[in-house]
Amino acid sequence: MSDTPTIRIRGLTKSFGDKLVLDGIDLDVMPGTSMVVIGGSGSGKSVLLKCVLGLIQPDAGTIEVNGQDLLRLRAGALDAVRSTIGMLFQNGALFDSLPVWENVAFGLLATHAVTRRTARVRAAEVLAQVGLDASVGDLSPAELSGGMQKRVGLARAIAGGAKILFFDEPTTGLDPIMGAVIDGLIVDCVKRLGSTAVAITHDMASARRIGDQAAMLYKGRIVWQGAAAGLMDSGNPMVDQFTHGRRDGPIQMELRK
Ligand SMILES: Nc1ncnc2c1ncn2[C@@H]1O[C@H](COP(=O)(O)OP(=O)(O)OP(=O)(O)O)[C@@H](O)[C@H]1O
Ligand SMILES: [Mg+2]
Repeated sequence: MSDTPTIRIRGLTKSFGDKLVLDGIDLDVMPGTSMVVIGGSGSGKSVLLKCVLGLIQPDAGTIEVNGQDLLRLRAGALDAVRSTIGMLFQNGALFDSLPVWENVAFGLLATHAVTRRTARVRAAEVLAQVGLDASVGDLSPAELSGGMQKRVGLARAIAGGAKILFFDEPTTGLDPIMGAVIDGLIVDCVKRLGSTAVAITHDMASARRIGDQAAMLYKGRIVWQGAAAGLMDSGNPMVDQFTHGRRDGPIQMELRK
């Protein structure tokens, strides 16, 4: 296995106005591993992934993907790197104007120069993998339940065979059985296809099923990193409070009075 991390982040900093969201993130994700990122709501998990995708411009720091510094790449080279990343967005982010199958095959149609017919067959295959019937492909995203939209978003993320996969809360809104099915699919992508994955989740069972490594984000920094299998007994007071859902502990929720 190569020593070069697939993703190497150093000193990543991002503020929105006077709100400091990422305060010097250092993180390595090694090839063929999956990293689970946990942290409270609003702690910057989604912003972190969007920075790596180039959707949000960081204020400082470096992001390397397979040794290439993204923030120094020209537009064409940056697009090439981005096309190696499949992303499931937290809110699905499906295109309402396109039928489900075109959403799933979007990347294929846009970049891989396959025929619409081939793309449609591929979309049906991937929809089946996430437990959806091919007939769902003809529906519009607005006609789907929240959990179905989530699975279509997942199908889109994996349809192009991307070597790097980002999952922002892949099982939120799914029933427990479908959640386990989706976790299995993620593990399969990482293990069988040799992809490298970063998954954000609040679901500790899911985190341990899909993660090799885990990292916790708090106040803009990575405050703990270790094996995902040790999440429930890490010995770190912040991780313990979070994973066991305790109200009292070092983490104080910012609630408006
Ligand atoms: N485009 C944006 N413009 C301004 N502020 C933003 C933007 N995106 C995110 N933020 C702010 O950055 C902070 C972190 O947001 P982020 O979406 O990363 O949280 P999160 O950790 O993913 O939370 P959750 O678990 O609720 O999804 C929040 O305070 C949010 O309001
Ligand atoms: Mg989020």
